[in-house]
Amino acid sequence: MGKLLEGKVALVTGSTRGIGRAIARSLAEEGANVVVCGRTKDATEQAARELTGETGAEVVGRACDVSKSDDVQALFDLAGKAFGRLDIVINNAGIGVFSPMADLSDEDWERVIGTNLTGVFYCSKRAVHEFRKRGGGYLIQIGSLAGKNPFAGGSAYNASKFGLRGFSEALMLDHRYDNIRVSTIAPGSVDTDFSPRSGGQRSAWKIAPEDIAQMVVDLLRMPERTLVSYLEVRPSKPAKG
Ligand SMILES: NC(=O)c1ccc[n+]([C@@H]2O[C@H](COP(=O)([O-])OP(=O)(O)OC[C@H]3O[C@@H](n4cnc5c(N)ncnc54)[C@H](OP(=O)(O)O)[C@@H]3O)[C@@H](O)[C@H]2O)c1
Repeated sequence: MGKLLEGKVALVTGSTRGIGRAIARSLAEEGANVVVCGRTKDATEQAARELTGETGAEVVGRACDVSKSDDVQALFDLAGKAFGRLDIVINNAGIGVFSPMADLSDEDWERVIGTNLTGVFYCSKRAVHEFRKRGGGYLIQIGSLAGKNPFAGGSAYNASKFGLRGFSEALMLDHRYDNIRVSTIAPGSVDTDFSPRSGGQRSAWKIAPEDIAQMVVDLLRMPERTLVSYLEVRPSKPAKG
């Protein structure tokens, strides 16, 4: 039997490490050719090289800061040049800056909103334009439980992920009749280097990045008639205290 994503092309933002990298690997293992990115050329090229070696799929990459519209255009142009089509886009790139609101610098506010919300708009718009050319596609947004649950120190991050949820559900309603499906996965704590508090320490109680990647593949497996639009994911047994 052929692989689920044989002949398909996927683009995953923020895929040099963490959740995005695990998603890129799973999509490649399922047979897709994949476009990866992070903000630096070296890390992006290394990820593309390693993922190609690990999976046997064709994985290409280009440095791209998703908060910059021109960078995003160049990334989508690469998908077209390398593979001539685009079927799946995963908006995963995201950052967190956590501090009481009054101490948040203007630059940090702009960085968080620019990456987590404006960057998702830039990528979603290009994705929809590409999908329409081919008669459809699948857009998956990596949100957060912080898109529903505010917490102290989270004003910028909460605002970005609350915004992402509203943006994504509205765009799903705009484009569902173009055969474009949009899902948002909203995880709780995932075992990556995202939070400075993790300090490189692995935490067995957290969600593994591979579990989020498995969810992405499960969504892509759903029959086309059915859309899981919003998926909350949490650690089964979070650390107490
Ligand atoms: N970890 C968690 O507990 C958790 C929970 C809920 C939701 N999330 C969400 O999951 C997503 C991924 O998080 P993660 O834990 O995997 O984080 P991570 O380990 O810090 O990885 C983030 C990835 O995004 C890239 N990136 C950051 N800013 C970017 C930008 N402006 N343009 C392009 N790429 C950029 C990073 O590469 P460079 O640094 O090389 O650019 C890296 O590849 C984020 O949207 C985050 O909000 C995470």
